[in-house]
Amino acid sequence: MHVLLTAGPTYEPLDPVRFLGNRSTGKMGYALAEAFAAEGAQVTLVSGPSQLADPANPRIQTVRVETAAEMFAAASAAAEVADVWVFAAAVADYRPAQVAAEKIKKAGETLTLELVKNVDIAATLGQQKRAEQFAVGFALETTNELAHAQDKLYRKNFDLVVLNSLRDPGAGFGHDTNKVTVLDAAGQIVNFELQSKAEVARGLVSLILARRAAKL
Ligand code: CTP
Repeated sequence: MHVLLTAGPTYEPLDPVRFLGNRSTGKMGYALAEAFAAEGAQVTLVSGPSQLADPANPRIQTVRVETAAEMFAAASAAAEVADVWVFAAAVADYRPAQVAAEKIKKAGETLTLELVKNVDIAATLGQQKRAEQFAVGFALETTNELAHAQDKLYRKNFDLVVLNSLRDPGAGFGHDTNKVTVLDAAGQIVNFELQSKAEVARGLVSLILARRAAKL
């Protein structure tokens, strides 16, 4: 089995020394890569800038990228041959319309940046997903969590969507622990306890493998 995983943030350059980014550490995605590899899968881990070291497991091939466009190119190259796609990256939705060739100098009291939309990696690949392929996305919501997550599942053609809790202390960005809820297209819900990201990853991988087996 081959797994394509996206992980970490993306950095969208503004000038040679600045970028727009986010606080994703990549921990959840890297933990998923380890958990899939432990089950014997070959993993292509397409990672945005993360402080984490490349996983040492020989079954995990790490491809380092910076921008959403680079992540899309690397993910597209691996998607066709992958049996399972997991989109754990926190992709920047927008990038600066222009990348200045020289460092932007301080000038007026305000500065307005124009941003343009980035490619939606999961949604674009979702349009070419074959019946035997299995896609999993992540969602981070602050209102109407379940409804928004389910809407994302349909829009992006996911088989499962993993909803990150923002309400629980210790869950989400930067933490070593996480608390997630998994939804499928039928509206069935699986709740995971607050536990280490490694434990959450093992639980998610066994759920994904079971659901995929049931689908085949
Ligand atoms: N995703 C992606 N490419 C993007 C944006 C998101 O592949 N350009 C993936 C994420 O990796 C995640 C899922 O889509 O698996 C949902 O990401 P999220 O940021 O919650 O969704 P958005 O479509 O950006 O929706 P919104 O920001 O409106 O909530």
